[in-house]
Amino acid sequence: MENMQNPPQTELVELQIEGSTCYVTLNRQDKFNALNVQMISELCEIFEWTSKRSAGRNNILQDSDGQEYLRTLIISGHGKHFCAGADINMMRDAGAQSAEENRKDSERLDQLFNSLWSHPCFTIGLIQGVALGGGAGLIACCDYVVATENVKIALSEGKLGILPAVIGPYVYRRLGSACFRRLAMQASRIDSEEALRIGFVEKVVKDKEDLQDASVVILEEILSSGPSAVSLAKELTLEFDHWALDDEELRKFTLDFTSKMRGSDEGQEGLSSFLEKRPPNWKK
Ligand code: COA
Repeated sequence: MENMQNPPQTELVELQIEGSTCYVTLNRQDKFNALNVQMISELCEIFEWTSKRSAGRNNILQDSDGQEYLRTLIISGHGKHFCAGADINMMRDAGAQSAEENRKDSERLDQLFNSLWSHPCFTIGLIQGVALGGGAGLIACCDYVVATENVKIALSEGKLGILPAVIGPYVYRRLGSACFRRLAMQASRIDSEEALRIGFVEKVVKDKEDLQDASVVILEEILSSGPSAVSLAKELTLEFDHWALDDEELRKFTLDFTSKMRGSDEGQEGLSSFLEKRPPNWKK
């Protein structure tokens, strides 16, 4: 098991841990947090480390040193903009290199989005300014997104003659087929009102200063849910996303899942705590 005293050492991304919440902040302000190779690698390291320290994955609230395991992850960006997308220099250079190098570069991006999408913690994005291309991909991978009023989001790749393919599955799952297809073709920026309407973000606040306050409300809500229930909700959803068998099989699968949850330590604790009129052991 990873040591709490040994988090990844990073330069372009900040990692801060407070109790069971980790704060991941993009910090390449001069390029509006455009995702270059170093930043992508640092984010991947952080997502891997924080995943291993998640309460949901370990099925326990604290490690052997009494340090809390993680239950929520907040991703945000320093400066005027949340994220100007993948670094355009990086993509041009990769495209001009050998097919193997080009693919390796895309694989790095793929790992980034997949590791945020499948992160066992509840993930919250706090965004201001723009979230373009890969920046839009990052928020599509989050479970809850709060945006400032002035936010602009775009699957802008089409304007550069490329496509939102690596981020595609996550945006598609968040918005649905028609909306993903339209935004990929249109490639122009949508405002916070449209983002809220189509489900790209969950909440809109006035200013950047209001983002933290909005996150406190949802954090409190999530900390009253069972940590394993939160993590397993993602696995359950993924099963539905991938379901290829008939409805009979689907019903069997959900019955098994329901029985497993009821019989788990967490399920027993949650059900008993309700009946005994006391808070469950995970509630802060
Ligand atoms: N990759 C690399 N560098 C980027 C970048 C990106 N995705 N986005 C911005 N930058 C750099 C600019 O080249 C510029 O660098 P410089 O200071 O060395 O010239 C710096 O960040 C500031 O950007 P600039 O365009 O001058 O600022 P602006 O306020 O006029 O516009 C943005 C800001 C983010 C709206 C604009 O830069 C933009 O549209 N970027 C492209 C975003 C995009 O299409 N991303 C999707 C990639 S798939």
